[in-house]
Amino acid sequence: SPHVAYRGDTLHVEDCALPDLAARHGTPLYVYSRASMLAAVGAYQRALAGRDHLVCYAMKANSNIAVLQTFAQAGCGFDIVSGGELARALAAGAEPGKIVFSGVGKTRAEMRQALDAGVMCFNVESEAELDVLSDVATQAGRTARISLRVNPDVDAGTHPYISTGLKGNKFGVAHADAVKVYRHAASLPGIEVVGIDCHIGSQITESTPYLDALDRMLDLVEAVESHGVRLHHLDLGGGLGITYTDEQPPSADVLVAALLKRIDERGHGHRKILFEPGRSLVGNAGVLVSEVLYLKPGEEKNFCIVDAAMNDLMRPAMYQAWMNIVACRQSGDQPVTYDVVGPVCESGDWLGRDRPLAVKAGEHIAVLSAGAYSMSMASNYNTRGRAAEVLVSGSQSWLIRDREQPSELFRGEHLVPGG
Ligand code: LLP
Repeated sequence: SPHVAYRGDTLHVEDCALPDLAARHGTPLYVYSRASMLAAVGAYQRALAGRDHLVCYAMKANSNIAVLQTFAQAGCGFDIVSGGELARALAAGAEPGKIVFSGVGKTRAEMRQALDAGVMCFNVESEAELDVLSDVATQAGRTARISLRVNPDVDAGTHPYISTGLKGNKFGVAHADAVKVYRHAASLPGIEVVGIDCHIGSQITESTPYLDALDRMLDLVEAVESHGVRLHHLDLGGGLGITYTDEQPPSADVLVAALLKRIDERGHGHRKILFEPGRSLVGNAGVLVSEVLYLKPGEEKNFCIVDAAMNDLMRPAMYQAWMNIVACRQSGDQPVTYDVVGPVCESGDWLGRDRPLAVKAGEHIAVLSAGAYSMSMASNYNTRGRAAEVLVSGSQSWLIRDREQPSELFRGEHLVPGG
């Protein structure tokens, strides 16, 4: 990313040197580039210009309210998956009428909260959910606008890396059942059918599965409308990948243009188009800065022990995800191969394996492309407070989240009497 780069020997996010931010705010520290986020959303918006559209940022990727504010100000809506995310989005200044509510397990309380807020659409994932939503809406004296999330069953053989768009997983309504479920939806008193939705997976690096899923979706739109149920918008989900190592995903504008071309060719160009990107808007905008605590040479492995751990960044431990790790200050020293590990008491607590690094204790490393599914998946395991977060714009930087203090971690716990 041009927004995360070395100037001389020092790694910068925009015009801010990471060792300076680390000295000011401490570590572990997440740092995000606002320009990078705006460039990423701009690519979607440019490709969609001139037609009715909405980019709904999938806020699960990074839900800091200043990040949400950045996207709200850029005209985005939001894809939410819980009542908690709804509260965050509203606190950040999101327009309720630009929010879509996804997820297989919405509770009645969350449905009520979203109806009262006036969200644009519920992406409904089952017939049972539809009945409950109609009931909740009717009791509240409201109508719930809905899309069905359909499962396009994109060929697993061709695209084995796609996980959520296949038969046999928990997401969405089966393609074969969709017409029946739409007709049922249209008959319910608390429901207004407005669109169709699909999301086929994450970290997708090719256009073909999107085009395949789109074709399957347009087939359904035609079938559903032949039964007199109107679908005003097409929500094509999220999932576009980013470069962690050598992946070469299509850029958002190229992918969107290809999808729009297919939509127009098939005569669906009048419909409103929604996307729900998460990772591709924030992933490359962020880094996790951590201090090297100890170097521990060994017979089989050398360990570089840093102050960030699996609780700060779960992706390597959880998915064996490879994320680049670099020194915040390049030295002329010969690199040594390390396993980069944290202080947590688990062998699974590693950030990277077999990484060449020329670093000393007290210096800083940065895990790159850590803007998505990083801080938002952090935990308090080992009673470690979560990291601080900083947003950078040019030479300005703002602390957008305080480092969590240990006392905050057991604030809601209670000793029992007589102890
Ligand atoms: N829409 C729905 C309904 C989703 O479930 C997701 C992500 C998105 C949109 C956004 O997808 P994206 O554009 O970010 O790929 N924790 C994993 C990724 C989980 C993705 C979950 N759903 C990771 O760290 O790789």
